[in-house]
Amino acid sequence: METAAARDAAGAEVETEVTPKPDDFPTGFQLFPDYFSRDQQDNLLDIIRDCLRAAPLFQPVMPRTGKPFSVRMSNCGVLGWVSDTNGYRYQPTHPETGAPWPPIPEILTTLWSELAPEAPPPEACLINFYEDTARMGLHQDKDEAFFEAPVISVSLGDTAVFRVGGSDRKSPTRSMKLSSGDVVVLGGESRLAYHGIDRVLPNTSTLMRNGGRVNLTLRRVTKP
Ligand code: SIN
Ligand code: FE2
Repeated sequence: METAAARDAAGAEVETEVTPKPDDFPTGFQLFPDYFSRDQQDNLLDIIRDCLRAAPLFQPVMPRTGKPFSVRMSNCGVLGWVSDTNGYRYQPTHPETGAPWPPIPEILTTLWSELAPEAPPPEACLINFYEDTARMGLHQDKDEAFFEAPVISVSLGDTAVFRVGGSDRKSPTRSMKLSSGDVVVLGGESRLAYHGIDRVLPNTSTLMRNGGRVNLTLRRVTKP
């Protein structure tokens, strides 16, 4: 992962935020605002908290530098994504407890079958927890061995400024706000689109008493 290109040397944003019209989106990119109702979000958050009791958040570090990510992570599924000084990879167990990841909750496998009915089942659900100052640099999701299935992302809690471009790092990017309950599908040509989180907007949701943002990304990792 690298820093978003859309910042100037001083770290200021050089693009204005736009809410793109649907036909502005990269091919295969879909945004479903308010996919989950508030009741469903509360329920999903409870379920994720149960997952985190079994598989606590850990602090990933960048492969070469060992620099900590600003987000903390965990996973559910038969495989989970981890990053440490040995690199980025998927593995079947938690890096600290050594335990298998808890299963992907049914509400999320149902979401997958609703939005990706043709795809083989998801194997990993990465759970990212963003505190107010956390960000995610522009990157591609490409540690999987199968790109025919989409990546499906669920946002919970505080609103984030999400940035998405094309499959070339130099393609133009645009940003949009992702609010609690929104779902994004990165499928088709957008499966390898560069994307990241510019920032989280504090106090924009009442879902979590102490604020912050949870993002869940469902992925198919292996070839079926
Ligand atoms: C990710 O790319 O892993 C997370 C994206 C997000 O937080 O919305
Ligand atoms: Fe990603």
